[in-house]
This record gives sequence, C-alpha cells and structure tokens, in this order.
Amino acid sequence: MVALVRPGARTMRAVVLDAPGPPEALAIRELPVPVPEPGEVLIEVRAFGLNRSELQTRFGLASHVVFPRVLGIEATGVVAAAPGGEFEVGQQVAAMMGGMGRTIDGGYAESTCVPASQVVPFTSDLDWATLGAVPEMLQTSYGSLTVGLDAQPGQSLLVRGGTSSVGMATTVLAKRLGMTVLATTRDPAKAPALTGVGVDHVIVDDGAVAGRVRELFPDGVDAVLELVGTPTLPDSLACVRVHGVLCFTGSLSNQWAVPDFYANTYLPRGVRLSAYFGDASDLPAAVLQEFLDAVAAGTATVPIACAYALEEIVEAHTAFEAGRSSGKFVVTT
Ligand SMILES: NC(=O)c1ccc[n+]([C@@H]2O[C@H](COP(=O)([O-])OP(=O)(O)OC[C@H]3O[C@@H](n4cnc5c(N)ncnc54)[C@H](OP(=O)(O)O)[C@@H]3O)[C@@H](O)[C@H]2O)c1
Repeated sequence: MVALVRPGARTMRAVVLDAPGPPEALAIRELPVPVPEPGEVLIEVRAFGLNRSELQTRFGLASHVVFPRVLGIEATGVVAAAPGGEFEVGQQVAAMMGGMGRTIDGGYAESTCVPASQVVPFTSDLDWATLGAVPEMLQTSYGSLTVGLDAQPGQSLLVRGGTSSVGMATTVLAKRLGMTVLATTRDPAKAPALTGVGVDHVIVDDGAVAGRVRELFPDGVDAVLELVGTPTLPDSLACVRVHGVLCFTGSLSNQWAVPDFYANTYLPRGVRLSAYFGDASDLPAAVLQEFLDAVAAGTATVPIACAYALEEIVEAHTAFEAGRSSGKFVVTT
C-alpha cells in the first residue's frame, strides 16, 4: 500500500549536488516523490540536521558517493508510506545513515525513501527544528558515552572539540548522567555556550591542554571524547588517568590517520584507546523518546546553533562550513 500524507504530490523540492563544489553547488530542484518498495519507508521530511559528512561530500573527500545525489545522512518527519507495515502512516520518525546522502538519496528534501532498518519512531510535541536537530547528534553522543567510553556517574570527562554539536550534546548527556565535564574550544568567546549546556571547566585549546587538565585532575580524567582528530590525539591521551579511556569519534581537523603508529611510544602506559562509529540501530527508540521527553520537560537542552529554511540551504552550508557557531545547524522544510 502506498499512501502519501499529501495525496497527489508527485514532485518534491530536494537539494541536489551534481558534483563536489562550493555551497552554491547545492541546487534546489523539483524531483519525483520516491515510491517505496516493501522494506522501505517514505518519510515526509519536516527537518534535517547538517553534518560534517555532507561537508566532506561537498568537498569531494567522501568515498562511495554516487553523483548526482540528494545529500543528507539524516531526516526527521512523518511516515508517508510503509508498504512493509513496519510503521503507521503519520507516525513521527527519525532516519539516519544506511547510505543516506551517499549511495541513496538522503534527507535534504521534502520526502526521502529509506530502508525501514534506518528508521526510529518517536512521539513529541516539540517543534520540528528542535526534533530535526536531534537524531544523528544524539546517536553519536549516546553511542560514544555508552559503547565508546562506558561512562559512569561521578566520572570526569574531557570533550575535545566541545563546541561541536556532538560535543555539546555529549555534555548534555554526561551532565544528566552526573559526570564532571571539561570541554575545549579554540575560541574563548564561545565559553558561555559551553557553560550554558553545563560544562564545568572550559579549556581554551591552543593545541596543548594536558597540563591544564592535570592542574584540575592531577591523576588525569576518567574519559576523553576526541572530536578534533589525530593532531590533538597524543595531547588528549596525556589527559587520561591510568585505566581511563579515550574514544576517537570524530576528526574536525580532517586528519584521521596516525603515520608510523608504534603503540609503545604513542600510547601512555595503562591508557585505553577506543573508537565509535554508529548507525540508526545504535539509537534505541526508548533512548530517543526519553531524551525528547526530557527536552519537553525542560531538564535537557538541544544545542542548536542556527535554524534555516530549505530555500536557505546555500546560506546554511556557508555558515556551517565557517564553523563560527556552537551547536547543531538544522533546516526545516
Ligand atoms: N563516529 C560517528 O559516528 C560520528 C557521527 C557524527 C559526527 N562525527 C564526527 O564528529 C565530529 C563533530 O561533528 P559535528 O557535526 O558535531 O561538528 P560541528 O558541529 O560542525 O563542529 C564545529 C566546531 O568544530 C570546531 N572545529 C572546526 N574545525 C576544527 C579544527 N580544525 N580543529 C579543532 N576544532 C575545530 C569548532 O570549534 P571551536 O572553534 O570552538 O574550536 C567548531 O565550533 C566530526 O569530526 C564528525 O565527522 C562522528
């Protein structure tokens, strides 16, 4: 059964990238509304977050991307059709990953058609800009804290790359867990954004923060979330206590590889090195629902930098690329 929320809508607006290029390469076009097969879900997209992954695609640095492509590794909206019966028409859902925006058309559109395995349901009266900012950011933060760091109440956590959307969302979750959070930014003017989401100690990152971290925690912190990448990794490892753990989740510097890695000289004694990369299955529906309910109740915040309309996608990507804000960029359709 194919039942569109907007019967008769045969075309949709979508943001298409024909080939890597500047923000202006993102073109809004009328495309046919996709028709889902059994096992797929057609989502009427209400909002979508912007991700570094899409910047990498636009820069031509991402592998396995087939052009032309509707970008977007995530989307949030309502189910327009689910011929396999996995979801009800009209149900609120988030979708992420599974090749979205890379090997299949993604979330930068008024509709997107994705495998049912990539879809997470929820119920919320929050506005769509708030809802659209959450899925990929929460999945990454939750997965980093649980799978990557096995974070526990009362522990100390350093977030390297603290003003990133993943960094700020991780702070929100870590504070809810009862952790003490240290977070870095290269820009002292962004300190209020960090304390605003609950950071206990703002560290201005000049490339070497381990000394200042150990002034606060002489034995080192229990956990570090590395989001800046291999240029800061040795200094981040030097912040960790013996038997503490560092999780490598992101590389804002775009430098992912360690040349000539020798464990005995690279890793401090007794410090554990972990990694996280996730999928929709790493965000249980109950976790998403609990977080959205906490936001609605005012006990958690969604760190949003800016919200844009679909027709402002070039401005949105320009500002996102500049990286002068703190938190998540989100676009509503
Ligand atoms: N593993 C996964 O599953 C997964 C999923 C999603 C994202 N990620 C990764 O997580 C990281 C964060 O993503 P995001 O979307 O949250 O980022 P974002 O919001 O776009 O981060 C923007 C912030 O990054 C900082 N930054 C930019 N370039 C930097 C550089 N060269 N060195 C240090 N800091 C820099 C800036 O902070 P300041 O100016 O304040 O220093 C800026 O405010 C990315 O590397 C992304 O690829 C991983």
